[in-house]
Amino acid sequence: MINVFFDKVEFFANNKELIKLIISNKRDKKSDLKKVIIKLIELKTELKLSFAYNHNTKDITKNFGINEGIILIQNLLKTDFFNADLFSTNETVQLISNKNNKVKIKTTEPTFKAIPKLNHDRIKKQRIFTQNNIYLQELGIISQNGKIKKDKHDKFRQINKYLETIESLLQESYWFTSGKPVTNLRIVDMGSGKGYLTFALYDFLTNSLNLDVEIIGVEFRQELVDKCNVIAKKSGFKNLKFEQGTIEKSEFKRIDILIALHACDTATDDAIYKGITHNSELIIVAPCCQKQIRKQLNLTNEMAAILKFGILKERQAELLTDGIRALILEAYGYKTKVFEFISTEHTPKNVMVTGTKISQKKNNSEILEKINSIKSFYGIEYHYLEKLLNNLSV
Ligand SMILES: C[S@@+](CC[C@H](N)C(=O)[O-])C[C@H]1O[C@@H](n2cnc3c(N)ncnc32)[C@H](O)[C@@H]1O
Repeated sequence: MINVFFDKVEFFANNKELIKLIISNKRDKKSDLKKVIIKLIELKTELKLSFAYNHNTKDITKNFGINEGIILIQNLLKTDFFNADLFSTNETVQLISNKNNKVKIKTTEPTFKAIPKLNHDRIKKQRIFTQNNIYLQELGIISQNGKIKKDKHDKFRQINKYLETIESLLQESYWFTSGKPVTNLRIVDMGSGKGYLTFALYDFLTNSLNLDVEIIGVEFRQELVDKCNVIAKKSGFKNLKFEQGTIEKSEFKRIDILIALHACDTATDDAIYKGITHNSELIIVAPCCQKQIRKQLNLTNEMAAILKFGILKERQAELLTDGIRALILEAYGYKTKVFEFISTEHTPKNVMVTGTKISQKKNNSEILEKINSIKSFYGIEYHYLEKLLNNLSV
Protein backbone atom coordinates (compact mmCIF):
# COMPACT_ATOMS: atom_id res chain seq x y z
CA MET A 1 0.00 0.00 0.00
CA ILE A 2 2.87 2.32 0.85
CA ASN A 3 4.12 2.04 -2.73
CA VAL A 4 0.94 3.71 -3.95
CA PHE A 5 1.96 6.73 -1.93
CA PHE A 6 5.47 6.90 -3.40
CA ASP A 7 4.11 6.36 -6.92
CA LYS A 8 1.95 9.42 -6.35
CA VAL A 9 4.92 11.46 -5.11
CA GLU A 10 6.85 10.49 -8.24
CA PHE A 11 3.91 11.15 -10.54
CA PHE A 12 3.09 14.57 -9.07
CA ALA A 13 6.75 15.60 -9.02
CA ASN A 14 7.37 14.62 -12.65
CA ASN A 15 4.15 16.34 -13.73
CA LYS A 16 5.02 19.52 -11.81
CA GLU A 17 1.89 19.10 -9.69
CA LEU A 18 3.61 18.54 -6.37
CA ILE A 19 3.10 21.55 -4.12
CA LYS A 20 4.68 20.23 -0.96
CA LEU A 21 5.22 17.13 1.11
CA ILE A 22 5.47 17.42 4.87
CA ILE A 23 7.04 14.60 6.84
CA SER A 24 6.17 14.85 10.51
CA ASN A 25 5.29 13.11 13.78
CA LYS A 26 8.75 11.95 14.82
CA ARG A 27 9.27 8.39 16.00
CA ASP A 28 11.83 9.40 18.63
CA LYS A 29 10.24 12.25 20.56
CA LYS A 30 13.69 13.40 21.74
CA SER A 31 15.02 13.76 18.21
CA ASP A 32 16.25 17.22 17.28
CA LEU A 33 14.78 16.92 13.77
CA LYS A 34 11.18 18.16 14.03
CA LYS A 35 9.94 17.74 10.47
CA VAL A 36 11.01 17.82 6.85
CA ILE A 37 9.26 19.96 4.27
CA ILE A 38 9.84 18.99 0.66
CA LYS A 39 9.06 21.16 -2.33
CA LEU A 40 9.55 20.80 -6.05
CA ILE A 41 12.01 23.21 -7.63
CA GLU A 42 13.57 23.67 -11.02
CA LEU A 43 17.33 24.14 -11.06
CA LYS A 44 18.86 24.82 -14.45
CA THR A 45 15.76 23.29 -16.08
CA GLU A 46 16.10 20.10 -14.02
CA LEU A 47 13.37 19.15 -11.56
CA LYS A 48 14.61 18.57 -8.01
CA LEU A 49 13.11 17.87 -4.63
CA SER A 50 14.23 20.49 -2.15
CA PHE A 51 14.30 19.13 1.43
CA ALA A 52 14.08 21.64 4.29
CA TYR A 53 15.16 19.80 7.44
CA ASN A 54 13.53 21.61 10.29
CA HIS A 55 15.61 21.17 13.48
CA ASN A 56 14.96 22.69 16.91
CA THR A 57 17.59 25.36 16.43
CA LYS A 58 18.37 25.42 12.73
CA ASP A 59 16.97 24.70 9.29
CA ILE A 60 19.04 22.94 6.64
CA THR A 61 18.02 22.82 2.97
CA LYS A 62 19.32 20.21 0.51
CA ASN A 63 18.26 19.47 -3.05
CA PHE A 64 18.04 16.01 -4.60
CA GLY A 65 16.98 14.50 -7.90
CA ILE A 66 13.45 13.05 -7.85
CA ASN A 67 14.43 9.37 -7.61
CA GLU A 68 17.10 9.98 -4.99
CA GLY A 69 14.67 12.18 -3.07
CA ILE A 70 12.00 9.48 -3.03
CA ILE A 71 14.45 6.96 -1.54
CA LEU A 72 15.29 9.51 1.16
CA ILE A 73 11.59 10.03 1.88
CA GLN A 74 11.13 6.25 2.19
CA ASN A 75 14.04 6.09 4.66
CA LEU A 76 12.78 9.04 6.68
CA LEU A 77 9.41 7.31 7.04
CA LYS A 78 11.06 4.03 8.02
CA THR A 79 13.39 5.42 10.65
CA ASP A 80 12.43 8.94 11.73
CA PHE A 81 8.78 9.82 11.20
CA PHE A 82 5.29 8.30 11.18
CA ASN A 83 3.37 10.71 8.92
CA ALA A 84 3.57 12.28 5.49
CA ASP A 85 1.17 14.80 3.98
CA LEU A 86 1.38 15.15 0.24
CA PHE A 87 -0.20 18.25 -1.30
CA SER A 88 -0.66 18.33 -5.04
CA THR A 89 -2.89 20.34 -7.35
CA ASN A 90 -4.88 17.13 -7.90
CA GLU A 91 -5.40 15.72 -4.45
CA THR A 92 -4.15 15.73 -0.90
CA VAL A 93 -2.79 12.39 0.28
CA GLN A 94 -2.14 11.63 3.91
CA LEU A 95 0.04 8.73 4.99
CA ILE A 96 -0.18 7.65 8.63
CA SER A 97 1.93 4.80 9.97
CA ASN A 98 2.37 3.35 13.46
CA LYS A 99 5.06 1.56 15.49
CA ASN A 100 4.08 -1.79 13.96
CA ASN A 101 4.58 -0.24 10.52
CA LYS A 102 0.89 -0.49 9.69
CA VAL A 103 0.08 2.17 7.13
CA LYS A 104 -3.13 4.04 6.36
CA ILE A 105 -3.54 6.24 3.32
CA LYS A 106 -6.29 8.82 3.01
CA THR A 107 -6.97 10.82 -0.14
CA THR A 108 -9.01 14.01 -0.14
CA GLU A 109 -9.75 16.97 -2.40
CA PRO A 110 -6.72 19.22 -3.09
CA THR A 111 -6.05 21.89 -0.47
CA PHE A 112 -4.16 24.06 -2.96
CA LYS A 113 -5.18 24.55 -6.57
CA ALA A 114 -2.53 26.97 -7.77
CA ILE A 115 0.22 25.52 -9.91
CA PRO A 116 3.45 25.56 -7.85
CA LYS A 117 6.07 28.15 -8.73
CA LEU A 118 9.15 26.08 -9.29
CA ASN A 119 11.66 28.86 -8.84
CA HIS A 120 9.96 29.86 -5.61
CA ASP A 121 13.02 29.46 -3.40
CA ARG A 122 15.05 31.92 -5.37
CA ILE A 123 12.25 34.46 -5.27
CA LYS A 124 11.70 33.94 -1.59
CA LYS A 125 15.27 34.71 -0.66
CA GLN A 126 15.78 37.60 -3.03
CA ARG A 127 12.87 39.38 -4.61
CA ILE A 128 14.86 42.15 -6.25
CA PHE A 129 18.49 42.21 -7.24
CA THR A 130 20.98 44.93 -6.43
CA GLN A 131 23.43 44.20 -9.25
CA ASN A 132 23.08 46.73 -12.09
CA ASN A 133 19.96 48.07 -10.41
CA ILE A 134 19.46 51.59 -11.75
CA TYR A 135 16.57 52.71 -9.55
CA LEU A 136 18.19 51.59 -6.30
CA GLN A 137 21.29 53.50 -7.33
CA GLU A 138 19.37 56.61 -8.36
CA LEU A 139 17.39 56.54 -5.12
CA GLY A 140 20.63 56.34 -3.14
CA ILE A 141 20.09 52.90 -1.62
CA ILE A 142 23.01 51.17 -3.27
CA SER A 143 26.36 52.48 -4.40
CA GLN A 144 27.73 52.12 -7.93
CA ASN A 145 29.22 48.72 -7.17
CA GLY A 146 25.76 47.39 -6.25
CA LYS A 147 26.39 47.32 -2.49
CA ILE A 148 23.72 48.54 -0.08
CA LYS A 149 24.87 51.76 1.54
CA LYS A 150 25.67 51.57 5.26
CA ASP A 151 22.74 53.69 6.39
CA LYS A 152 20.25 52.13 3.93
CA HIS A 153 20.04 48.59 5.25
CA ASP A 154 16.79 49.33 7.13
CA LYS A 155 15.24 50.83 4.02
CA PHE A 156 16.27 47.81 1.96
CA ARG A 157 14.83 45.47 4.60
CA GLN A 158 11.60 47.46 4.58
CA ILE A 159 11.41 47.18 0.79
CA ASN A 160 11.92 43.41 0.91
CA LYS A 161 9.41 42.91 3.68
CA TYR A 162 6.92 44.93 1.67
CA LEU A 163 7.46 42.76 -1.40
CA GLU A 164 7.09 39.62 0.69
CA THR A 165 3.77 40.92 2.03
CA ILE A 166 2.48 41.77 -1.42
CA GLU A 167 3.57 38.40 -2.75
CA SER A 168 1.67 36.56 -0.08
CA LEU A 169 -1.47 38.67 -0.68
CA LEU A 170 -1.20 37.97 -4.40
CA GLN A 171 -0.83 34.26 -3.78
CA GLU A 172 -4.13 34.29 -1.90
CA SER A 173 -5.84 36.33 -4.60
CA TYR A 174 -7.93 34.83 -7.37
CA TRP A 175 -5.29 35.73 -9.97
CA PHE A 176 -2.99 33.10 -8.50
CA THR A 177 -5.47 30.58 -7.14
CA SER A 178 -7.31 30.35 -10.46
CA GLY A 179 -4.02 29.45 -12.15
CA LYS A 180 -4.98 31.68 -15.13
CA PRO A 181 -2.29 33.92 -16.63
CA VAL A 182 -2.24 37.38 -15.09
CA THR A 183 -2.69 39.99 -17.80
CA ASN A 184 -2.76 43.73 -17.73
CA LEU A 185 -2.99 44.09 -13.96
CA ARG A 186 -3.36 47.74 -13.08
CA ILE A 187 -1.89 48.85 -9.78
CA VAL A 188 -2.28 52.39 -8.52
CA ASP A 189 0.09 53.57 -5.80
CA MET A 190 -1.41 56.63 -4.14
CA GLY A 191 1.07 59.07 -2.58
CA SER A 192 4.05 57.33 -4.15
CA GLY A 193 6.54 59.89 -2.81
CA LYS A 194 10.15 59.17 -3.80
CA GLY A 195 9.01 55.86 -5.26
CA TYR A 196 11.22 53.37 -3.37
CA LEU A 197 8.42 50.90 -2.88
CA THR A 198 6.79 51.58 -6.25
CA PHE A 199 9.95 50.86 -8.24
CA ALA A 200 10.72 47.75 -6.21
CA LEU A 201 7.19 46.42 -6.66
CA TYR A 202 7.31 46.94 -10.42
CA ASP A 203 10.72 45.29 -10.63
CA PHE A 204 9.60 42.33 -8.53
CA LEU A 205 6.29 41.74 -10.31
CA THR A 206 7.61 42.09 -13.83
CA ASN A 207 11.15 40.74 -13.58
CA SER A 208 10.91 38.11 -10.84
CA LEU A 209 7.27 37.00 -11.16
CA ASN A 210 6.98 37.74 -14.89
CA LEU A 211 3.58 39.32 -14.49
CA ASP A 212 2.01 41.65 -17.01
CA VAL A 213 1.42 44.75 -14.87
CA GLU A 214 1.04 48.46 -15.19
CA ILE A 215 1.81 50.62 -12.17
CA ILE A 216 0.82 54.24 -11.82
CA GLY A 217 2.15 56.32 -8.96
CA VAL A 218 0.01 59.30 -7.99
CA GLU A 219 1.94 62.02 -6.18
CA PHE A 220 1.14 65.55 -5.21
CA ARG A 221 4.69 66.89 -5.49
CA GLN A 222 5.64 67.64 -9.09
CA GLU A 223 9.41 67.43 -8.48
CA LEU A 224 9.09 63.86 -7.19
CA VAL A 225 6.87 62.90 -10.13
CA ASP A 226 9.41 64.26 -12.61
CA LYS A 227 12.32 62.57 -10.89
CA CYS A 228 10.54 59.22 -10.69
CA ASN A 229 9.53 59.36 -14.36
CA VAL A 230 13.16 59.98 -15.35
CA ILE A 231 14.33 57.00 -13.25
CA ALA A 232 11.57 54.75 -14.64
CA LYS A 233 12.71 55.60 -18.17
CA LYS A 234 16.37 55.04 -17.30
CA SER A 235 15.47 51.67 -15.77
CA GLY A 236 13.54 50.63 -18.89
CA PHE A 237 10.33 50.19 -16.87
CA LYS A 238 7.88 50.77 -19.72
CA ASN A 239 4.68 50.24 -17.78
CA LEU A 240 5.59 52.30 -14.75
CA LYS A 241 4.63 55.93 -14.71
CA PHE A 242 4.06 58.68 -12.20
CA GLU A 243 1.33 61.29 -12.41
CA GLN A 244 1.05 64.56 -10.58
CA GLY A 245 -2.23 64.97 -8.75
CA THR A 246 -4.09 64.42 -5.55
CA ILE A 247 -5.46 61.11 -4.39
CA GLU A 248 -8.93 62.54 -3.97
CA LYS A 249 -9.11 63.98 -7.49
CA SER A 250 -7.32 61.18 -9.31
CA GLU A 251 -9.41 59.42 -11.94
CA PHE A 252 -9.02 55.90 -13.26
CA LYS A 253 -11.33 53.69 -15.26
CA ARG A 254 -10.07 50.61 -13.47
CA ILE A 255 -7.92 49.91 -10.42
CA ASP A 256 -7.14 46.23 -9.77
CA ILE A 257 -4.85 46.84 -6.80
CA LEU A 258 -4.97 50.02 -4.77
CA ILE A 259 -1.94 50.84 -2.66
CA ALA A 260 -1.38 53.79 -0.31
CA LEU A 261 1.62 53.63 1.94
CA HIS A 262 2.12 56.29 4.57
CA ALA A 263 -0.39 58.67 3.02
CA CYS A 264 -0.98 61.06 5.90
CA ASP A 265 -4.16 61.25 7.92
CA THR A 266 -7.33 61.24 5.79
CA ALA A 267 -5.36 60.78 2.52
CA THR A 268 -5.43 57.08 3.42
CA ASP A 269 -9.25 57.27 3.57
CA ASP A 270 -9.35 58.98 0.18
CA ALA A 271 -7.27 56.13 -1.18
CA ILE A 272 -9.41 53.39 0.40
CA TYR A 273 -12.47 55.15 -0.99
CA LYS A 274 -10.97 55.00 -4.50
CA GLY A 275 -10.25 51.30 -4.00
CA ILE A 276 -13.77 50.49 -2.81
CA THR A 277 -15.50 52.54 -5.48
CA HIS A 278 -13.36 50.94 -8.21
CA ASN A 279 -14.09 47.49 -6.87
CA SER A 280 -10.36 46.84 -6.54
CA GLU A 281 -9.49 43.22 -5.87
CA LEU A 282 -6.85 44.22 -3.37
CA ILE A 283 -6.56 47.29 -1.17
CA ILE A 284 -3.30 47.74 0.71
CA VAL A 285 -2.68 50.70 3.00
CA ALA A 286 -0.14 51.55 5.66
CA PRO A 287 -1.74 54.50 7.44
CA CYS A 288 0.07 57.25 9.30
CA CYS A 289 -0.57 60.51 11.17
CA GLN A 290 -4.13 59.56 12.18
CA LYS A 291 -5.38 62.97 13.35
CA GLN A 292 -9.00 63.08 12.26
CA ILE A 293 -10.42 60.87 15.03
CA ARG A 294 -8.04 62.15 17.70
CA LYS A 295 -9.55 65.63 17.49
CA GLN A 296 -12.99 64.14 18.07
CA LEU A 297 -12.33 61.80 20.98
CA ASN A 298 -14.67 63.11 23.59
CA LEU A 299 -15.18 60.74 26.43
CA THR A 300 -17.62 61.04 29.24
CA ASN A 301 -17.34 57.41 30.35
CA GLU A 302 -14.75 55.48 32.40
CA MET A 303 -12.19 55.48 29.53
CA ALA A 304 -11.77 59.24 30.07
CA ALA A 305 -9.53 58.47 33.08
CA ILE A 306 -7.12 56.61 30.81
CA LEU A 307 -7.27 58.85 27.79
CA LYS A 308 -6.33 61.94 29.76
CA PHE A 309 -2.74 60.76 29.09
CA GLY A 310 -1.72 62.27 25.75
CA ILE A 311 0.27 59.35 24.38
CA LEU A 312 -2.48 56.87 25.22
CA LYS A 313 -5.07 59.11 23.61
CA GLU A 314 -2.92 59.25 20.48
CA ARG A 315 -2.53 55.46 20.37
CA GLN A 316 -6.22 54.94 21.02
CA ALA A 317 -7.06 57.35 18.19
CA GLU A 318 -4.78 55.39 15.83
CA LEU A 319 -6.35 52.13 16.87
CA LEU A 320 -9.88 53.46 16.38
CA THR A 321 -9.07 55.12 13.05
CA ASP A 322 -7.51 51.99 11.56
CA GLY A 323 -9.92 49.63 13.27
CA ILE A 324 -12.92 51.42 11.80
CA ARG A 325 -11.19 51.44 8.37
CA ALA A 326 -10.79 47.68 8.64
CA LEU A 327 -14.45 47.21 9.62
CA ILE A 328 -15.61 49.43 6.77
CA LEU A 329 -13.60 47.30 4.32
CA GLU A 330 -15.30 44.20 5.73
CA ALA A 331 -18.66 45.89 5.33
CA TYR A 332 -17.86 46.43 1.66
CA GLY A 333 -17.08 42.77 0.96
CA TYR A 334 -13.36 42.62 1.72
CA LYS A 335 -11.55 39.99 3.74
CA THR A 336 -9.47 42.26 5.91
CA LYS A 337 -6.18 41.89 7.76
CA VAL A 338 -4.41 44.29 10.09
CA PHE A 339 -0.80 43.50 10.96
CA GLU A 340 2.67 44.91 11.58
CA PHE A 341 4.47 44.67 8.28
CA ILE A 342 7.89 45.55 9.54
CA SER A 343 9.23 45.65 13.07
CA THR A 344 9.08 48.96 14.91
CA GLU A 345 12.90 49.01 14.99
CA HIS A 346 12.87 49.91 11.31
CA THR A 347 9.97 52.36 11.19
CA PRO A 348 7.23 53.40 13.60
CA LYS A 349 4.78 53.58 10.67
CA ASN A 350 4.36 49.88 10.46
CA VAL A 351 0.72 48.87 10.60
CA MET A 352 -0.74 47.59 7.39
CA VAL A 353 -4.43 47.20 6.63
CA THR A 354 -5.25 45.00 3.67
CA GLY A 355 -8.51 44.01 2.04
CA THR A 356 -9.04 41.21 -0.47
CA LYS A 357 -12.36 41.38 -2.31
CA ILE A 358 -14.37 38.29 -1.52
CA SER A 359 -17.92 39.30 -2.15
CA GLN A 360 -19.93 41.77 -4.17
CA LYS A 361 -22.56 41.72 -1.43
CA LYS A 362 -22.66 44.71 0.81
CA ASN A 363 -24.66 43.17 3.54
CA ASN A 364 -23.16 45.28 6.20
CA SER A 365 -25.84 46.41 8.64
CA GLU A 366 -24.35 44.30 11.44
CA ILE A 367 -20.87 45.76 10.92
CA LEU A 368 -22.21 49.30 10.60
CA GLU A 369 -24.05 48.84 13.88
CA LYS A 370 -20.80 47.79 15.52
CA ILE A 371 -19.05 50.87 14.13
CA ASN A 372 -21.85 53.07 15.44
CA SER A 373 -21.66 51.68 18.93
CA ILE A 374 -17.86 52.09 18.98
CA LYS A 375 -18.26 55.69 17.84
CA SER A 376 -20.86 56.42 20.44
CA PHE A 377 -18.73 54.86 23.21
CA TYR A 378 -15.80 57.14 22.29
CA GLY A 379 -17.88 60.19 21.53
CA ILE A 380 -16.78 60.18 17.89
CA GLU A 381 -19.06 62.11 15.58
CA TYR A 382 -17.84 60.65 12.28
CA HIS A 383 -15.04 58.71 10.62
CA TYR A 384 -13.88 60.44 7.44
CA LEU A 385 -14.02 57.27 5.32
CA GLU A 386 -17.59 56.67 6.41
CA LYS A 387 -18.49 60.18 5.39
CA LEU A 388 -16.94 59.65 1.94
CA LEU A 389 -18.89 56.45 1.49
CA ASN A 390 -22.16 57.85 2.78
CA ASN A 391 -23.24 58.80 -0.69
CA LEU A 392 -22.94 55.22 -1.89
CA SER A 393 -25.69 52.74 -1.36
CA VAL A 394 -24.36 49.95 0.85
C1 LIG B 1 5.28 59.79 3.69
S1 LIG B 1 5.34 59.82 1.97
C2 LIG B 1 5.25 58.12 1.56
C3 LIG B 1 5.80 57.77 0.23
C4 LIG B 1 5.70 56.31 -0.16
N1 LIG B 1 4.34 55.89 -0.35
C5 LIG B 1 6.39 55.42 0.85
O1 LIG B 1 5.70 54.82 1.69
O2 LIG B 1 7.61 55.33 0.84
C6 LIG B 1 3.72 60.38 1.55
C7 LIG B 1 3.65 60.95 0.15
O3 LIG B 1 2.28 61.11 -0.18
C8 LIG B 1 2.10 62.37 -0.81
N2 LIG B 1 0.72 62.75 -0.52
C9 LIG B 1 0.16 63.00 0.68
N3 LIG B 1 -1.13 63.32 0.55
C10 LIG B 1 -1.41 63.25 -0.76
C11 LIG B 1 -2.57 63.47 -1.54
N4 LIG B 1 -3.72 63.77 -0.94
N5 LIG B 1 -2.50 63.31 -2.86
C12 LIG B 1 -1.32 62.98 -3.47
N6 LIG B 1 -0.19 62.76 -2.79
C13 LIG B 1 -0.21 62.89 -1.46
C14 LIG B 1 3.14 63.26 -0.19
O4 LIG B 1 3.48 64.32 -1.03
C15 LIG B 1 4.29 62.30 0.03
O5 LIG B 1 5.20 62.29 -1.03
